[in-house]
Amino acid sequence: MSDQTTSSQTLPIVIVGHVDHGKSTLIGRLLYETDALPEAKVEEIRAVCKARGVGMEWAFLLDALQAERDQGITIDTTQIRFATEKRGYLIIDAPGHKEFLKNMVTGAASADAALLVIDAAEGVREQSRRHAYLLKLLGIEQVAVAVNKIDLIGRSEETFRRVEAEIRGYLKGLEIDAKAVIPVSARDGDNIAARPEVADWYEGPTVLEMLDTFEVGAPPCDQALRLPVQAVYKFDDRRIIAGRIESGVLKVGDRLSFAPAGETSRVASIETWNTPSPVSAGAGRSVAFTLDDQIFVVRGDVAVSADHPVAGSQELRVRLFWLGREPLVAGKRLKLKIGTAVHRVEVTAIERVIDVEDLSSTGGTAVEVQRNGVAEVMLRSRAPIVADEFTDFQRTGRGVLVDGYENVGGCIVADTFAAAQPVSQNIFNVDHSVPVDARIAANGHQGGVLWFTGLSGAGKS
Ligand code: GTP
Ligand code: MG
Repeated sequence: MSDQTTSSQTLPIVIVGHVDHGKSTLIGRLLYETDALPEAKVEEIRAVCKARGVGMEWAFLLDALQAERDQGITIDTTQIRFATEKRGYLIIDAPGHKEFLKNMVTGAASADAALLVIDAAEGVREQSRRHAYLLKLLGIEQVAVAVNKIDLIGRSEETFRRVEAEIRGYLKGLEIDAKAVIPVSARDGDNIAARPEVADWYEGPTVLEMLDTFEVGAPPCDQALRLPVQAVYKFDDRRIIAGRIESGVLKVGDRLSFAPAGETSRVASIETWNTPSPVSAGAGRSVAFTLDDQIFVVRGDVAVSADHPVAGSQELRVRLFWLGREPLVAGKRLKLKIGTAVHRVEVTAIERVIDVEDLSSTGGTAVEVQRNGVAEVMLRSRAPIVADEFTDFQRTGRGVLVDGYENVGGCIVADTFAAAQPVSQNIFNVDHSVPVDARIAANGHQGGVLWFTGLSGAGKS
């Protein structure tokens, strides 16, 4: 790749870890080392720290920036940027921000890579594990670990190796291969940009060197087409369908199938304003297009290739991260937002609640999922849900759970179950005051339903 293309890239990253392990300090230090901070701001913080009789507190910097944001001085509310010689970085949502987990889990914020911060003296703690699990759940595979505060352990290699073995072991259980475990002191700047002479036993990359090796996620153009329909507009006699291509490529002339109904039509044109209409568009693009035939298409449908039609599932097994105030129990009714569709679903079973401490799991009828808990559950919907398994398609394989108007969890689809036989959506058991048994006894025979079906005028009557 040429320098020009790499320098124009921005890598969105997320920084996670247990409370007080030094995330803010590390971010402050990263900004400082990459000259992303106005000198005046640094001096201001230095003066404040001096006046309070403490050493330079890089975390104050973030607090100061946060305060400015709260007052609306800086327009951007959740994003912090810095750049190396290679490219730009965007730190997604400052940790500590109370919506942090929610934004991550519900996909409001997404990152291509993550830095997990662990206090060298405290070692791997509860939230270190929970956040690591979350990275797995979100499909973030580029992960590096910063074992922070090595100044507190006398820059001891032995202690560092112990923490390194502990976190590598845990990540391995999640099938995450840490790209590097780096001993750092965010406070003193060890191994952030520069290597300290006092810990020369470490020969791996610095944090900034490591970040520069991560790859910016490319839109999945080489996968099958998935285009959730956002809206259908009517102009004159033309109908224009709009949506974002989540994977694959849309070409004029392609025959599309609109899941779940499965009606098909050809792409007649891709529409643009003011510029010549393109003949194709790839993943990541939002497009508007017209069809040859006026078939019935609504928001929530997903356009796929007619060569590989997709059936909806009325049952999904999902892995979820629960954010609800009340524990989640079987029988709970929620809404599932996936793609551009919203479905009413019922949690029919909580199959496994995962203990992030040791990755063991419990199941059974009595289990509940506590706030910030992780579980595997079955969802059932009356209408078919068009979804993919997350391991095949990330964008159409994850959803958000909504209770009322509140986002209460994020989930990835572990298994879809194409309905084996058509299940009627509008026939239900109802209770009567004469129970079934009594009716059979009274009539002397079982009840039955005889269904006459056929076109109008076929002679049913
Ligand atoms: P939360 O946002 O509350 O989860 O904490 P955090 O992870 O952002 O931690 P923060 O950066 O606020 O650091 C917590 C404390 O650890 C602060 O007092 C820092 O000064 C201190 N600290 C951070 N990094 C280092 C380090 O490398 N060495 C030492 N000695 N202290 C550090
Ligand atoms: Mg913090």
